[in-house]
Amino acid sequence: MDFVKTKDGSYTAFNQKYQEHYHALSGAIKEAKEKFYLPAGIKNGMKILDLGFGLGYNTAVTIHNHQDLRITALENDTSILKAISSLPKPKEYEKEFQLLKKLVKKKTLTDSAKNIIELIRGNAIDLIYTLPTSYYDRIYFAPFSQINQPEIWCVSVFSELCRILHKKGKMISYPCGKRIKKNLEQVGFKIIEPDQVNNRKFPLVAMKIKGSPLFG
Ligand SMILES: C[S@@+](CC[C@H](N)C(=O)[O-])C[C@H]1O[C@@H](n2cnc3c(N)ncnc32)[C@H](O)[C@@H]1O
Repeated sequence: MDFVKTKDGSYTAFNQKYQEHYHALSGAIKEAKEKFYLPAGIKNGMKILDLGFGLGYNTAVTIHNHQDLRITALENDTSILKAISSLPKPKEYEKEFQLLKKLVKKKTLTDSAKNIIELIRGNAIDLIYTLPTSYYDRIYFAPFSQINQPEIWCVSVFSELCRILHKKGKMISYPCGKRIKKNLEQVGFKIIEPDQVNNRKFPLVAMKIKGSPLFG
């Protein structure tokens, strides 16, 4: 797989099927930190779903300097998982990426800080139905964009994400427009991040405020 260097020096890849890079070209590490990890407000001991694990940046940045996290990672593309072994590793996160390389060959790994990471291969649209109710503190919802992958940005998926989140748990995703936000609100989320007149630059943070009215 060919890697593309992003502006912060970290590397991403290009997906032919969805005609999209795995990260913004402004930086793969920058995206993982600024669009997912920091807005999520991660605390030790949290349970996190990383939907769209890809090259693993969101998980790598999240376990760095944390302990006792429990991360469930979902990914359906074997080729991107294999690519982790040849990805030029960002210096700051070298240890975490060495761990993820091992994770690809196993199903579950525990690191020295007692973070437990489970990698489940398969279609997240089906797998979310098998995940426990009111379990996760945070969800990183990181598939491809709404334009290129509309089938996953839908009410039935959002409803399941709401079901598996703890009350007041948060889902973090890419900046998105009014229609997606309305659909999230419909299933029991409250949009809580600054949203200055629908400015698309902010990451999306949606908090669960009630059980999914569609699926109980
Ligand atoms: C934009 S990339 C996310 C990149 C990732 N956050 C990272 O740090 O590399 C989207 C990822 O979601 C995965 N994906 C998309 N649809 C999926 C699905 N239905 N089930 C599982 N994984 C999916 C893709 O294969 C891809 O790896």
